[in-house]
Amino acid sequence: MSVSKETIAIEIDLLLQSIKWKYGYDYTNYSLNSIERKIKHRLKLSALTTISQLQSKVLHDPAFFEAIVQDFSINVTEMFRDPGFYQVFRQQVVQLLKSNSFIRIWVAGCSTGEEVYSMAIILKEAGIYDKTQLYATDINESVINIARKGIYTTDKIKKYTDNYQQSGGQTSFSDYYTADNKFVVLDASLRKNIIFSTHNLVSDTSFNEMQLISCRNVMIYFNQQLTNDVLLLLTESLSKQGLLCLGDKESLRFSCVEKNYEIIDKKEKIYRRI
Ligand SMILES: C[S@@+](CC[C@H](N)C(=O)[O-])C[C@H]1O[C@@H](n2cnc3c(N)ncnc32)[C@H](O)[C@@H]1O
Repeated sequence: MSVSKETIAIEIDLLLQSIKWKYGYDYTNYSLNSIERKIKHRLKLSALTTISQLQSKVLHDPAFFEAIVQDFSINVTEMFRDPGFYQVFRQQVVQLLKSNSFIRIWVAGCSTGEEVYSMAIILKEAGIYDKTQLYATDINESVINIARKGIYTTDKIKKYTDNYQQSGGQTSFSDYYTADNKFVVLDASLRKNIIFSTHNLVSDTSFNEMQLISCRNVMIYFNQQLTNDVLLLLTESLSKQGLLCLGDKESLRFSCVEKNYEIIDKKEKIYRRI
């Protein structure tokens, strides 16, 4: 029997409300298309036939809820992702940060850590790592645990090396890791000033007095209402003149905080709070 679109929408809504009430995770303002795709995939894997059955299992089985959290979390990332962004970061952002006696950076939605380690490398090459404190957060505890270790599989390294060079890297990327057959371990000196922790942009409080916040490729999965709420939280967390970096497909245009920023680089989505 085919289920109508309306019934599916009601079932998804009930599922998301149950998750919110039982576990405190609010996915109700995530983009419906991507949530629906993930739910259908989980239905197939669990041999359940309806979303209502899935809802009941989520309510009674915390381990199953954990699997759903993993499903909803899209963790795609890489080092020096969008090398053009990191070129501008090297050439302009670092210059703007340099004048601060102490620099606080928040990487929100850091996934497995590649983004914050890329920034750490650039800050080191610019000679300002030692006066910087980086905070790297994500809603998903399992990706934070990977980020904390800074260990990645060797199959990724060719891409990361190419990205590093395209971003204007000043040395050999291999200076930053040791490798064996399967894994590369990033140099512990990159991690020295990074604090990793879980943080939920939907329900947790703001940070304060950040000189830079990078929240790239996270809000792409949020609807407009949630995007606005998160942008308000990020704006509250920035110091005056603080910089905000968004992902390739994200923008402050038409958001409720657009008037609070000037554009530093339109293409790379880098803004400064005024
Ligand atoms: C596609 S990854 C982007 C990773 C990295 N920022 C990048 O650009 O490569 C999106 C990350 O956002 C995280 N995320 C999703 N919802 C979140 C929330 N409410 N609070 C914090 N992080 C969240 C996901 O767990 C995931 O690791």
